This record gives sequence, C-alpha cells and structure tokens, in this order.
Amino acid sequence: MERDLDILADDTFRKIAMKTEEEEMLAGLMAAQKHLPCKFFYDETGSKLFEQITRLEEYYPSRTEKSILKRHAGELMRGAEGASLVEIASGDCSKISILLQVLPKSMVKTSTYVPVDVSLSALEESRCKLQERFGAIEVCGIVADFMQQIHLVSQHENRIFCFFGSTIGNLDRRDAVRFVAKLGKLIKTGERLLLGLDMVKDKAVLERAYNDEKGITARFNKNILNVANKILGTDFEPEYFRHHAFFDDEKQRIEMHLVAIRDMIVKSPFFERDLEIPKGQTIHTENSHKFTSHHIGEFASVSGLSVRAVYTDSNRWFTLADYIK
Ligand code: AVJ
Repeated sequence: MERDLDILADDTFRKIAMKTEEEEMLAGLMAAQKHLPCKFFYDETGSKLFEQITRLEEYYPSRTEKSILKRHAGELMRGAEGASLVEIASGDCSKISILLQVLPKSMVKTSTYVPVDVSLSALEESRCKLQERFGAIEVCGIVADFMQQIHLVSQHENRIFCFFGSTIGNLDRRDAVRFVAKLGKLIKTGERLLLGLDMVKDKAVLERAYNDEKGITARFNKNILNVANKILGTDFEPEYFRHHAFFDDEKQRIEMHLVAIRDMIVKSPFFERDLEIPKGQTIHTENSHKFTSHHIGEFASVSGLSVRAVYTDSNRWFTLADYIK
C-alpha cells in the first residue's frame, strides 16, 4: 500500500502518515490483547465466504436489509435521477442493484455508481455485474479504506451516500460518531445518507447469526490468518484456532475472536522475535456493534443531518435511516 497523507477528521490540520497494512497488522499482533483489523477479512476468499454468510438462514441482517430496500426503493429513489450513488464498503453490488432497479433505464444512464471498498476484486466484479445488468451506468470505483480516504469522493456531485450492512457497527462507538460527523461535513445541502443499522435484539438471535451451523462464519474468521500469512509472511496455522463469537450486553456488540487451542510459536520476517501464543489466548478479530433509536438521533445531531425517514422490518431487527442535509 502506498503511503499517503491525510487530514484528521477534527480539522486540526495535523497531518498523519497512513500506516501500511504490514504496520497495522503488526501493531495488532504485538498488543496485550491481540487483535487484527476486520478489514483484513476481505481478500478474495474472505469476500466469497462473506457472500456465503449473507445467504445463511441464521444470518438475518443482509436478508432483512434487502427486504427493507425492496419495499421502499421507490420512495428512496424518488428524485434521485442523475445522482451519484456513493456506496461505502460496497462489497458485492446486490444492495445498490435493488435501488437501481426502480430507476427508469434512461435515468440509470445518467447515474454514476461510486463504490468504495478495500477489495479490488469485489469492485471489479461489481462493475461487471452492474454493467451487464444495467448497461450504460458509469461505475467509478475507489479502492480504499473508507476510514482513511472517504474524502476521495469529493469529485462527485449530487450524491447519495449509502452505507449499508451495518458495517458502521465494526467501528467502536467513538469512531462511528466521528465518522458520521466527517460524512456530515462532506455532505452538501440536498445530499443524502442512507445508513443501515443492525438493532439490539434478543441475544440468542444475535449469537446464532455469528455461530452458524455450517461453520461458514468460523471459516471466515480463520481466513484472516491466511491473509496475515500473505501480508506479514507469518506461519499461522488456522486449524489450531477455534472460532468464538458472543454478544457483550454492556457494550451491545458481538465480538469475534480466534482462540488458540494449543501453545504455538509464530514466525515472521517482520517480527523482532518469535511470537509465542499460549493455549487459550485470543486474537480479537471483529466487533459488530448493534444500535438503538438513540444512535439514529445521535448520528443526526453530530453530523448536522436531518432524519428524513426511518424504515424497519416487522421484527424491528434492522433499520435503514435516511438522512438529508
Ligand atoms: C459486514 C461487518 C456487517 O458485522 O455482521 C458477518 C461481518 N462478521 N459475520 C457483521 C460479519 C461475521 C458483518 N459486517
């Protein structure tokens, strides 16, 4: 990854050098509670595994959000002809397709799709699928970590920002608020933000969604070690880790960990010395925060955006908040 300079969200104009992927991973593995940034799940294998997760019976969020999008696509896209649809952490393009589908063909032609994702392969695939399905739509993808480079979307005008899938739940509460505040500054009068939020609900439902019977989520979790092996040249053996996902009531989040099932020693050309991981130690790989109506209001107040509409499903398991400036 290239080094780049960035301006901090709080406008102090301090410049920070972006960390390389190697540095980000190293810092996580050297910490007392080992952790790996969850964006590293999504190499080609990981992106495919995640797509499988979205089709699992236990994993309700994708299905539920799509049903909300389908039901309200007409309303959501009213007046959106010719807009630039900026999708943050776009992944596969299944959700934006639901919105594009309700636009008349001639209108799709004048729209621009701007997917922002860390996965080049996901972006390439999205472009193919969309152009196959919608013909002339202009696709202008950006390979980037949205936390660091969302300002790259400033070339586009008349934007609808889409941040689906409750991916904002991966950020801790403070970072989520900061990120939405940053979006608020970027968004101009009349532009919108569609934000998908997975809601706090019965713990059993939540835990089931991250502990599927087929073990796809476990494979997805362990795959991050293969990504570490590629980036850091480590020799992690994923089969010596156990998938562990649970809901923390206080923090209102699912935590995913990889638990070492035996003592091990991990080597890497980037390590100063071998990394000893004792049996039972965990690597924290993901947080997935869940939301309440309180957070919908909080995001509005910190960003200067107004809530235009809030859509949900009959169980109130998932929410799509429509904000406007
Ligand atoms: C894509 C971040 C929204 O947190 O539910 C699915 C990722 N991790 N199963 C989520 C995920 C385990 C997912 N997000």
